[in-house]
Amino acid sequence: MSHTPAPAPTAGGPLPWNRPLIGEDEIAEVVDTLRSGWLTHGPKATRLEHTVRDTLGAEDAFAVTSCTAALHLAFLAGGIGAGDEVITPSLTFCAAPNALRQVGARPVFVDVDPFTLNITPGAAEAAITPLTRAIAVTHYGGQMCDMRAFRELADQYGLLLIEDAAHALHASRDGLRAGSAGDLATFSLYANKVAAAGEGGVLAGRGDLVHKARLLGRHGIDSSAWQRHGKRNTADYEVEVPGLKYVMSDLTAALAVVQYARLPEFTERRAAISAAYTRALSGLPGLTTPTVLPGVEHGWFLYPVLIDPDAAPVDRDKTAAALLERHQISTSVHFKPVHSLGPYRGVIHRPLPVTETAAARQLSLPCYPAMTDEHVDRVINAVHDLWS
Ligand SMILES: Cc1ncc(COP(=O)(O)O)c(C=O)c1O
Repeated sequence: MSHTPAPAPTAGGPLPWNRPLIGEDEIAEVVDTLRSGWLTHGPKATRLEHTVRDTLGAEDAFAVTSCTAALHLAFLAGGIGAGDEVITPSLTFCAAPNALRQVGARPVFVDVDPFTLNITPGAAEAAITPLTRAIAVTHYGGQMCDMRAFRELADQYGLLLIEDAAHALHASRDGLRAGSAGDLATFSLYANKVAAAGEGGVLAGRGDLVHKARLLGRHGIDSSAWQRHGKRNTADYEVEVPGLKYVMSDLTAALAVVQYARLPEFTERRAAISAAYTRALSGLPGLTTPTVLPGVEHGWFLYPVLIDPDAAPVDRDKTAAALLERHQISTSVHFKPVHSLGPYRGVIHRPLPVTETAAARQLSLPCYPAMTDEHVDRVINAVHDLWS
């Protein structure tokens, strides 16, 4: 029985918010791994690590099961633990705050800039206390934070700097790549990300910290299964620290290496779709298109618009519902602010007015390379229809 990839969304059918673009090269690389006899972390995961490391100019990189795993390892390797405070946005996914809670630390939420929805060095500095150990930024939607200023701030106060670059695998600002200024950076290869491998992540950064993370991420064992394979008795190993199991499989890495190589092509298409949206939607009353700062090479994981309910004909939730019901177009929201979610609700935090306003107004339109020009026009026409 032969299987071909699922067809791309048709011009008139349901348009999902996201869909990976998988080609014959990805399929061939996965089949090659299936035929190789080696499925777990091995030559392909190592290839991915070397490529990411060299692209970033980082000292080391470790391919893991998810960005969440990379964040957990980053905090463990960075020695962040009970009683420590880590400054981070609330307008992000729950992964970093959850991982902080897992190591016993306290996420300290700071507000974001109203234009980029990124945290700023000024807001972070105002939140520093004697308990602060680290700053964990998120590059919201693929637009990088001001990492030169964050680096200076972290150095000035002796803090660890961690980049949650889940959205920014292919992004830069003033010539600095996302993931290259922090002590550690974490990337996501989750199914909806700019390079999609189903699940997966990469931790990159300082050699000493990635070395610790690698040990912690393979049970604390001093060598990998691939290193031991065929070379010595597989029982010939030592557990140096009580670790976890977070290594990326070569099956995932096979997909990831091809997707990673296609990022320039993918990002160009995402940027073209974003430019078309901005041209067509700027000026609609109450709808704000994304602000891109000078010097930013945006990764365009998200195309986020803000809908002001007092100035637009429909609010954010009605827009999302009408796009889906009338036009079969799915959208998404980034994010439910973490301070409003279960375990964080009721915890005292600094005022977060921009975060709260943005969270009530933000809508992510479909923006991915599997979209055709007809899909893009369909989204534009549907939004115009709601605004007319
Ligand atoms: C900012 C951010 N960080 C971390 C993650 C977690 O990524 P993963 O699913 O690879 O663990 C996500 C997922 O969407 C995210 O948006």
